[in-house]
Amino acid sequence: MPGTADDGTAAAERWFTAAGQDDPYARYRRLREITPVLYDLRLDTFFVLRHRDCAAVLRDPDIRTPDPAWLDVREPGWREHSAAVFLYNSLLRRNPPDHARLRRILRDALPVSPNLESVVDRALDTLAQRGAVGSVVDLQTVVATPVPLTVISDLLGVPQADRRWLASTVDNLVAVLDPLLAPAVRDRADQAADRLGSYFSELIEERSEHPRGDVASTLAAAARIGRLRTGEAHDALLLLFAAGNETTSGLIGNALHAVLRGEHRSADPAALIAETLRWDSPVQLTERVASRTCRIGEVTVPAGADITLVLGSANRDPQRFPAPDRFDPARTDRDALSFGAGPHYCLGAALAQQLAIVLLRRFLARFPKARLAGEATRRPSPTLRGFTSLPVVLDG
Ligand code: HEM
Repeated sequence: MPGTADDGTAAAERWFTAAGQDDPYARYRRLREITPVLYDLRLDTFFVLRHRDCAAVLRDPDIRTPDPAWLDVREPGWREHSAAVFLYNSLLRRNPPDHARLRRILRDALPVSPNLESVVDRALDTLAQRGAVGSVVDLQTVVATPVPLTVISDLLGVPQADRRWLASTVDNLVAVLDPLLAPAVRDRADQAADRLGSYFSELIEERSEHPRGDVASTLAAAARIGRLRTGEAHDALLLLFAAGNETTSGLIGNALHAVLRGEHRSADPAALIAETLRWDSPVQLTERVASRTCRIGEVTVPAGADITLVLGSANRDPQRFPAPDRFDPARTDRDALSFGAGPHYCLGAALAQQLAIVLLRRFLARFPKARLAGEATRRPSPTLRGFTSLPVVLDG
């Protein structure tokens, strides 16, 4: 019998309000204790809160990612929404055997060792200028957001002049990942998908004629020789741009915030980033579907049911991580689920961690006395956890 305790359901609903974004972890803890597998009637989904259950679901071949065939039954009008069409055409929503084919092409298209140091140093120069003479400066908008935007745009081949509007448009698109969408938010996500779809499709066409050695050119070439089907190249480019930016800027902001408010500045930056991923995951939720009736923990989940994995809760599960609410870079058990697990494991995990480590190392070396200065603001999303502003003073 799924948990439907009033307490649990009410708490689940509160996740999806702006107020819930400051500290979702207290709510996760209560839900994990009351009903670790919780059926939510309004959202018609099973929330899974324990680490061992989330890890098992992600690796279970009988549980797949929600795909177009499933959504046709659950929400027949979905094809009228461009944002849903983008998401459900993407790699994230492919199942075997198609998933492996597309994943291999994207994996091979991503370069192994991009140049990170000079991008980081330029952003830190700007930070130093803006934060000179003790003025308050916003670490999120000056460093944590633009650095991944520059690195990923350089890799993909997105021209400089277009990056800013693309980033703010993608910000509207990724709302499609949230479980509850207000109609106005959904409209904005659909408009964003239309604009971005046309933009990336033109970029693929341009690179098809004038290749340059970036990811756009590699994907354009794969489309030309028939390795990618119509539309797949620009969808893939947009997915990489969207999946890479919002998440990595979240990780960098969450790490800077965790480090500046605590006592751990002298810890190894790689350990600080690994602990941030566990303690304050940039991706809190992901979705799956049961292909057949299955057991999750003590609960029977019927075939076709929607499942929401609460990765941010799994990473704070005391049965997996002792004293889970303590930010402790000295931990050695690092089996956090922030990049997922199993067949859809994040394709950008190495890049995101490498970039965040370089940035944190250079930031701490250059601004050892930096401190938080005022209220940091969380982005209002239950799925993507990060900041919209992170005010600091640099010289202590
Ligand atoms: C800290 C930064 C990041 C986090 C926390 C993150 C998290 C995730 C998670 C949780 C998934 C799996 C979703 C699921 O199983 O349903 C995923 C998949 C994916 N990520 Fe990331 N990601 C990050 C950065 C990046 C970057 C930098 C890129 C590329 C430039 C990227 C590209 C992808 C792609 C293409 C997938 C789909 C893989 C598949 O479906 O097979 N991600 N990411």
